[in-house]
Amino acid sequence: MALKNINPTKTKAWQKLTSHFDDIKDIHLKEFFKNNTNRASELSITFDDFKIDYSKNRITNETLDLLIELVNEVDLKDAIQKYFSGDIINTTENRAVLHTALRDSSSNKIIINNTDVKPEISLVLNEVELFSEKIISGEWKGFTGKSITDIVNIGIGGSDLGPNMVVNALQHYKNHLTTHFVSNIDGDHISEIIKKLNPETTLFIVVSKTFTTQETLTNSTTFKEWFLKSATPNDIFKHFVAVSSNITKATEFGINKENIFPMWNWVGGRFSLWSAVGLSISLSIGFQNFKKLLKGAEEMDMHFASADFNKNIPVVSALIGIWYNNFFNCETEAILPYSQYLNMFSDYLQQASMESNGKSVDRNGEKIDYQTGAIIWGNVGSNMQHAFMQLLHQGTKLIPTEFIGFEESLSGLTVHHKKLMANFYAQTEALAFGKTEEEVHLDLKFNHQSNKLTSLLPYKVFDGNKPSTTLLIKKLTPNSLGKLIATYEHKIFVQGIVWNIFSFDQFGVELGKELANKHLNKQ
Ligand code: F6P
Repeated sequence: MALKNINPTKTKAWQKLTSHFDDIKDIHLKEFFKNNTNRASELSITFDDFKIDYSKNRITNETLDLLIELVNEVDLKDAIQKYFSGDIINTTENRAVLHTALRDSSSNKIIINNTDVKPEISLVLNEVELFSEKIISGEWKGFTGKSITDIVNIGIGGSDLGPNMVVNALQHYKNHLTTHFVSNIDGDHISEIIKKLNPETTLFIVVSKTFTTQETLTNSTTFKEWFLKSATPNDIFKHFVAVSSNITKATEFGINKENIFPMWNWVGGRFSLWSAVGLSISLSIGFQNFKKLLKGAEEMDMHFASADFNKNIPVVSALIGIWYNNFFNCETEAILPYSQYLNMFSDYLQQASMESNGKSVDRNGEKIDYQTGAIIWGNVGSNMQHAFMQLLHQGTKLIPTEFIGFEESLSGLTVHHKKLMANFYAQTEALAFGKTEEEVHLDLKFNHQSNKLTSLLPYKVFDGNKPSTTLLIKKLTPNSLGKLIATYEHKIFVQGIVWNIFSFDQFGVELGKELANKHLNKQ
């Protein structure tokens, strides 16, 4: 069954939200906290090792109630049920959307075209496990009899960003293998990577769902040519494997059939890290840790599918995003993790979110007259405090932010972690509450600078009232990272449902590819 087509702006809830927005848009966060001393605990959700505090947003309990009325009117419940059960909700590509099935460890069947997909998923997971063990243990030998030391993942978009971000984020858990990622068609990057490789001990994973992507095919050919300078075509099978749904093209490239891990058309590229696309993850941190990542995602899936909407982390995050995007007319959303390990997280989310919800035609095929996907960007704290935070604190734009922090560090360097987290809390406080003229006055006086009062006062005032949501997670583990990624996947899904768009196609990237080919043929 297809998704329903309901224009959100024509719902009763939208009309109520519009007038409610007029009522509260100018109220300062300070007022909200003054009027409700329980605000921080009321406007927060705890689930396992996750605590989300959304009290520093320009909302009231009524805002949330109305936003929930909105998702009820567009029948989010029905959409979630269709999403998890394999209905053809990617209508424009005539496909189901089943990345959640990849991490579903229950015995429930999921039927597509009269076939249960679960046995196939476990089969591929077994292959990933066996292969990972052979490479990690050193049992798999290269063409001169040496074990593998380096893995090169060749892919782009969803065939790169997810695994790359996860391998980077979980480097604390990694083994002796060195993992490289090559995505850009820029030959200079390949040349730099090649300098670090020995053909005798390198394994290349060509990851391409379609096996037609120009960047990936060009890069793979360059690596193959480099490899064949030292080895023979008969050695390719020991050094090149593929993850693809296009077996014909992958074998034509020279990859042995038994070295091809399958992908399915019901897994979108940007949601595919849970499939064999995550092979580089399993190789880098071991299959058991890869399974923990899947488990974490599954736990978030269960929370999303079963928790009441007002206590549902992905739903509430999605609704807060809609509130700023469609009522405050904010154009962007900043994702700010306080962990160097997550320095690729906003890059990853850019594709997941912007390729999904950057759409302007609704599910009725009509041009939309309201805003859809926000521009996602961000970087890690505390670095970004010394880069772009000035604009968020004192600039003219209203930018909602999501701060992600961890209670414990992995290194155990508590002095650093205390300072890191002090900055985390300080930023959200400064954004929300700012600094008044009186406070600046007192400050200058205290610092014996009262003589500079007239010249400096206006510049030192912070208006505050800048929204932030904080997600506090106990510790960065494969499990909690799985939960975190799944949270955003479902947030993207909920927003697409409300905006009445198809989130799982990406026709918008086609034109550039076509034109690039035309230019290439002219050269
Ligand atoms: O950028 C468009 C896109 O189709 C993405 O959706 C996808 O993740 C990426 O290209 C790579 O595609 P493939 O895995 O087929 O090489």
